[in-house]
Amino acid sequence: MNIGIVGAGSVGKGLATGLVKAGHGVAMYARDEESVRQAASETGAAAAVTLEDAVASADVLVLAVPFGAVEEIAAAIRPLVAGKIVVDVTNAARPDWSGPLFSGSVSAASTIAGWLPEARIVKAFNTIFASNLVAGGTVDGQVLDALVAGDDADAKAVVSQLATDLGFRPIDAGQLTAAGLLESLAWLNISLNARGGNWQSGWKLVGLAA
Ligand SMILES: NC(=O)c1ccc[n+]([C@@H]2O[C@H](COP(=O)([O-])OP(=O)(O)OC[C@H]3O[C@@H](n4cnc5c(N)ncnc54)[C@H](OP(=O)(O)O)[C@@H]3O)[C@@H](O)[C@H]2O)c1
Repeated sequence: MNIGIVGAGSVGKGLATGLVKAGHGVAMYARDEESVRQAASETGAAAAVTLEDAVASADVLVLAVPFGAVEEIAAAIRPLVAGKIVVDVTNAARPDWSGPLFSGSVSAASTIAGWLPEARIVKAFNTIFASNLVAGGTVDGQVLDALVAGDDADAKAVVSQLATDLGFRPIDAGQLTAAGLLESLAWLNISLNARGGNWQSGWKLVGLAA
């Protein structure tokens, strides 16, 4: 499968490393060409020269950028992602980092879905620290969960398979309306680690019926 990743930071590189290892073709894009070249050489991904290059050949496009960058990116790629799977990994924080930016029925994912109405938006990987992407999904001998939410069942199945390929146990968290719950869950882990944690912790639900 061809995966396009916008963003060549911690999450972009973590995803690229595991997806390349699993045999996927990955093209990465960010604005700073040197950082993309570096990320590509570290991970085995291809460096896309333009945003459009990263999107054009992608079966799945991952937006691994700060939430604040997404509106502009969405405006640029809107015509290119009609019918495409677009994965939102963002955790949008308030400007003073006192909590998540969104609450209630509005989430980063629902906002992005409004910006990309013809894309098949899937919320995933936002509950997983980049360190655990690099670690291949296992912490203290436990395979972590990858919670996946979205309205398109086929798109969710594709992203769940990618989570499996990365070493995680995918869990279908429901429709895209569940994305806010995933963003809150991520925030809880972030706030626990901000109090002096090692940024290695991850979510695992036990006792869930198959
Ligand atoms: N770090 C984690 O453990 C973690 C875990 C789960 C979810 N997340 C979420 O994942 C997203 C990425 O986090 P990160 O930690 O990987 O951030 P990061 O290390 O700061 O990397 C962000 C990347 O986005 C690129 N970028 C920013 N604006 C852009 C634009 N307009 N067009 C294209 N690329 C742009 C940056 O490169 P340029 O500036 O060169 O463009 C950089 O490569 C965030 O939304 C975060 O909330 C992070």
